[in-house]
Amino acid sequence: MMARMLLRNNLKRLIYEKMRPFSISSCGFRQFNSASSEATATKVTLLPPPPSSGKGMLLTGSMIGMAIAGGAYVSTADEATFCGWLFKASKILNPVFALLDAENAHNLAIIAASRGLLPKEMRADPPGLNLELWGRKFSNPIGLAAGFDKNAQAVESLLGLGFGFVEIGSVTPVPQEGNPKPRIFRLRPEGAVINRCGFNSEGIVVVAKRLGAQHGKRKMEETSASPTSGNGAKHGGKAGPGILGVNLGKNKTSEDAAADFVQGVHTLSQFADYLVINVSSPNTPGLRKLQGRKQLKDLVKKVQAARDEMQWAEEGPPPLLVKISPDLSKQDLDDIAMVAVSLRLDGLIISNTTISRPDSVSNSPFAEEAGGLSGKPVFDISTNVLKEMYILTRGRIPLIGCGGVSSGEDAYKKIRSGASLVQIYTSFAYGGPAVIPQIKAELMECLERDGFKSVQEAVGADYR
Ligand SMILES: Cc1cc2nc3c(=O)[nH]c(=O)nc-3n(C[C@H](O)[C@H](O)[C@H](O)COP(=O)(O)O)c2cc1C
Repeated sequence: MMARMLLRNNLKRLIYEKMRPFSISSCGFRQFNSASSEATATKVTLLPPPPSSGKGMLLTGSMIGMAIAGGAYVSTADEATFCGWLFKASKILNPVFALLDAENAHNLAIIAASRGLLPKEMRADPPGLNLELWGRKFSNPIGLAAGFDKNAQAVESLLGLGFGFVEIGSVTPVPQEGNPKPRIFRLRPEGAVINRCGFNSEGIVVVAKRLGAQHGKRKMEETSASPTSGNGAKHGGKAGPGILGVNLGKNKTSEDAAADFVQGVHTLSQFADYLVINVSSPNTPGLRKLQGRKQLKDLVKKVQAARDEMQWAEEGPPPLLVKISPDLSKQDLDDIAMVAVSLRLDGLIISNTTISRPDSVSNSPFAEEAGGLSGKPVFDISTNVLKEMYILTRGRIPLIGCGGVSSGEDAYKKIRSGASLVQIYTSFAYGGPAVIPQIKAELMECLERDGFKSVQEAVGADYR
């Protein structure tokens, strides 16, 4: 009863606070002065002007429709049912987003998320999905990969969707625009994307300010509203109600990559539950060369030293991970495994996008676009590298499996191939919030089907 009242109030707030202030004009959204209901209209630039006002109307109409339908439904449903409905209902927006250019759709999603216009996961994760890694408690192993919230604009809302963790970035030391647009291409029939963003980033100072403001809030929320799972594990551990990864990049024109990553560490590591050195984006010239044995060893040593020289509380510094490419030779993999083990790296993320073009995309009109390919066609390539690395490191280095995951079965395969955690990007971009509870439920089914009591039990099961 209480839950329903709360929910109803939340819904009222959603309709009155989020929907009412917006009206459509031919230039996009308009926001009315919230101090008064009078129409003292101040124009707010939310987006580059949408391609046509018709699409904007359709989008806002759908959002309002969802809220009204939700209002009608909430009076008869319990909290969990309502929450499930809201996630499913969010699917009706997918075709609307599909009408927009890929980058505009992405920007709109980030704005919606930063304004709290996303469903919130109220259902606790089953204890079977809980796991502990690096002294942090994850309520489930499914995370959002880097590149979606590059500038930490929507961390809380994204965590609120039920991700076990969210990785922001890549963040560069100095703000930079990235490559000219268009630079993101949808290969929809193939469930894939090609991007050559080239680290568009607001830079470490802006991101640190944003995280600084959110960090306090996250700490406060830890003691109040975050849902707990069956065994009492909270959404998240050290830093707040969710686990935050910070992915560091380098500026295009910088000639000293290590200095760039060190700057990132100095400015952002205080907010991170884990840090990532991204040496695998195909869109920054020379970056992937840092995966070579000597270059990687020198780089990791410098970054580890920078992190360890800082003052840390009792729980110690955030773990340091390296994100690698799926396009590596056997020799490269041997070298990376050697460096990872000898320098006691805390983890590897496997993998970034591929510059290869598998047969499955050969019919796409976008197949020849330069950039990194993500989504379904990357699944086998990245899972093979994951498996190889698990075998080479003999399971001693925690691995995050990323690339082409769009179902619980895919996530399960990554876990059985050696991943302790799994990340998604492209399937979330296409499928929206509904993908998250779906993957988690399917993963739980896979674990139960094969008699695993926890995610941890299944890690590397195929190669032990
Ligand atoms: C548009 C776009 C931008 C991305 N930007 C970054 C980035 O800034 N840093 C990074 O490490 N990975 C980035 N990635 C790669 C993803 O984090 C992920 O490794 C890759 O997409 C494979 O996962 P997926 O198949 O689930 O999408 C980006 C991917 C896409 C599609």
